[in-house]
Amino acid sequence: MKHQVRSVRVSLGERSYDVLVGHGLRAELVAMIPEHARRAAVITQEGIPFSVDPGVGYEVFNIGRGEEFKTLSTIETLCRGFADMGLTRNDVVIGVGGGMVTDIAGFAAASWHRGIPVLHVSTTLVGMVDAAIGGKTGVNLPEGKNLVGAYWQPSGVLCDLDTLATLSAREMRCGMGEMAKYHFLTGDDLLDLELVDRIARCVQIKADIVGADEREGGQRALLNYGHTLAHALEIAGDFQLAHGEAVAIGLVYAAHLANVLGRISTARVQQHYDVVGGLYELKTALPPSDPELLLSLMGRDKKALRGLTFVLDGPSGPEVVAGVTAEAALEALGQMSEAK
Ligand SMILES: NC(=O)c1ccc[n+]([C@@H]2O[C@H](COP(=O)([O-])OP(=O)(O)OC[C@H]3O[C@@H](n4cnc5c(N)ncnc54)[C@H](O)[C@@H]3O)[C@@H](O)[C@H]2O)c1
Repeated sequence: MKHQVRSVRVSLGERSYDVLVGHGLRAELVAMIPEHARRAAVITQEGIPFSVDPGVGYEVFNIGRGEEFKTLSTIETLCRGFADMGLTRNDVVIGVGGGMVTDIAGFAAASWHRGIPVLHVSTTLVGMVDAAIGGKTGVNLPEGKNLVGAYWQPSGVLCDLDTLATLSAREMRCGMGEMAKYHFLTGDDLLDLELVDRIARCVQIKADIVGADEREGGQRALLNYGHTLAHALEIAGDFQLAHGEAVAIGLVYAAHLANVLGRISTARVQQHYDVVGGLYELKTALPPSDPELLLSLMGRDKKALRGLTFVLDGPSGPEVVAGVTAEAALEALGQMSEAK
């Protein structure tokens, strides 16, 4: 049977590109390689059981697994490898992996010879519905996550669903956390769709937002729904909580906070529990944590330009709300701890 393939266009003028979603897409990579490329640097990780053949000469670079390897030192090692293999400005970088690999591959490509093309083959659910699309690339510093980076759009993205067969249940859950976020941004019943359509729909939602606001001057900030508390929980818990798990809790917290601020009803808060905990089967309970610590971490969020800033639901849907008071943020944490 011929597998279904969905194609979603990210419209950014001359930097527009297609995202293909489906099974058995490995063979499509050759057609995506830029015409002038003679060599490719394939960046991936050990443990990702998915190899590609770009149809031109290539070398494979394995980077470490885990956020502690998402560093400038990894970028330097890669670029020195590019120098050794003679990668020119006409050539191409290919990221084969989850969000960590595609963020690194994108930044290495943006930096090498001041920018060469990059293609992403996304192998995690988080990568497919979020990280591989939209051109945000970067690395961490000891001072914070993703603090150094560049906007560098890929020339194409493949979301090969075959890769998900080997992904752990926990990594799948992380993708569900980001999907639940899209549920609230659009009201779409994503779980009613087949997996290929569900992922393609998430790609379309992100593509529409990025197409309207590539550099997060406005609408793109909505993609941070649930993320302000999520980042604080990740840091407070020393990254024991995975990002998607933290987003799930952050979505419910954002609902409590919107309720405290009189923006939504308690019934709408309950809907957040029903969707995140019920439909998406994600944990919604606030882990034991010091509210004052969470408050201070939320104040340090790099998106917080004007005091405590959140994406909050309201009568006209989620929007960016700046200047939230510490009292309201703490009250919502209190409400959430008391909820079962
Ligand atoms: N650029 C963006 O817009 C954006 C958006 C969201 C997240 N991110 C970034 O993405 C990263 C998180 O991405 P992630 O959740 O994909 O995690 P990840 O890339 O760290 O992958 C998680 C783990 O799964 C393994 N893995 C990947 N694909 C696999 C497969 N098919 N089978 C088995 N194992 C596999 C990886 O080796 C890794 O150990 C973070 O660094 C985050 O900052 C970026």
